[in-house]
Amino acid sequence: MIRVNDNYLNLQDSYLFSTIAKKVNEFTKNNPDKKIIKLGIGDVTKPIVPAVIEAMHKAVDEMGQKETFKGYGPEQGYEFLRNKIIEIDFKARGINILPEEIFVSDGAKSDSGNIGDILHNSNKVAITDPVYPVYLDTNVMAGRSGKFNEKTGMYENIVYMPVTAENNFIPELPKEKVDMIYLCLPNNPTGTTLTKEELKKWVDYAKENKSIILFDAAYEKFIMDKNVPHSIYEVEGAKEVAIEFRSFSKTAGFTGVRCAYAVVPKELYGYDKDGNKIELNKLWNRRHSTKTNGVSYIVQRAAEAVYSEEGQKQITENIEYYMNNARIIRQGLEEVGYTVFGGENSPYVWLKVPEGLTSWEFFDKLLSEVNVVGTPGAGFGPSGEGYFRLTAFGTKENILEAIDRIKKWTIKK
Ligand code: MLT
Repeated sequence: MIRVNDNYLNLQDSYLFSTIAKKVNEFTKNNPDKKIIKLGIGDVTKPIVPAVIEAMHKAVDEMGQKETFKGYGPEQGYEFLRNKIIEIDFKARGINILPEEIFVSDGAKSDSGNIGDILHNSNKVAITDPVYPVYLDTNVMAGRSGKFNEKTGMYENIVYMPVTAENNFIPELPKEKVDMIYLCLPNNPTGTTLTKEELKKWVDYAKENKSIILFDAAYEKFIMDKNVPHSIYEVEGAKEVAIEFRSFSKTAGFTGVRCAYAVVPKELYGYDKDGNKIELNKLWNRRHSTKTNGVSYIVQRAAEAVYSEEGQKQITENIEYYMNNARIIRQGLEEVGYTVFGGENSPYVWLKVPEGLTSWEFFDKLLSEVNVVGTPGAGFGPSGEGYFRLTAFGTKENILEAIDRIKKWTIKK
């Protein structure tokens, strides 16, 4: 008899973005004449920049020549890419990272979902609420949660740290001792950030409690404010307590290409059952080299080109384009009375839904009455109720049209 992993039976129906896609497909089937504008899932729309495309073409050609053909590469990533990452993403900010601390992968979603493989199932997990659903769901899959409580909308045995307008989107340190802390900054979904001083409190907490911070910095390139840290390693001592996840998806339009990396510092330790210190870098390296053969040579050459002078210039232009979209969303919504957050250091705008509506009701109304798709805050956790997320990753034309529709619709009501 094949036994299934019972933890999967403890998951909620479906992954948030799959539920939304299903609802949108159904609406489209019943209303084929409507032009739907999708500002739900944070997927990029601008094509990959020329410097990267050129590098990819070159790498494809290399694969066709016997002198330059590449078979398996190093599972952790080619040196040429790891060195560029170190130089541009860290050294330029005064952070010292070693090549063997970088693990190139196919996505921050996979990395943040897989990291639990090397951590014990008895660890107490803390997540912000609302949260990117992958952190929660992968811990439910691993059996680190208790049952889902329909009344509270929360899993037992998971520590939820609310981030709402009431606390200025600054999570409070947990009152109880937790072992694994997920922080995503700039935050998905709220689009808000923390200062270095705020971040330091988490590093101090983690040191004091021998906890680990799983720091998702996938939206780091969207930071415009000089006071906002780009990496948790800007906080002194963070290499002793944090793993950082980075991604080329939103930064360089790689959602369909797939490339990311995780930083697992050498000075970061976990503990075995007897309290002996275990180097997490060694465990992750073992896991990585056993379960993957890494990312293709072509894709890694493409990622390398992101760091060229031209590449940096071109991706910055794309990021500015998206951030201009975020401004259009923010301003347009504010003009008709919405309270909005985020969108200044992040491609996500987080708005308060009108009084009397739940976030899913607002989702349904927006879809059926103005044909605009967003993401209901409640889909990210119970404290997301009453909020709604719009992404700035659309085309400018679509963003202008969507905001115009929402403004007219709001005024009419
Ligand atoms: C989101 O919309 O939250 C993200 O695009 C999802 C993801 O990156 O996996």
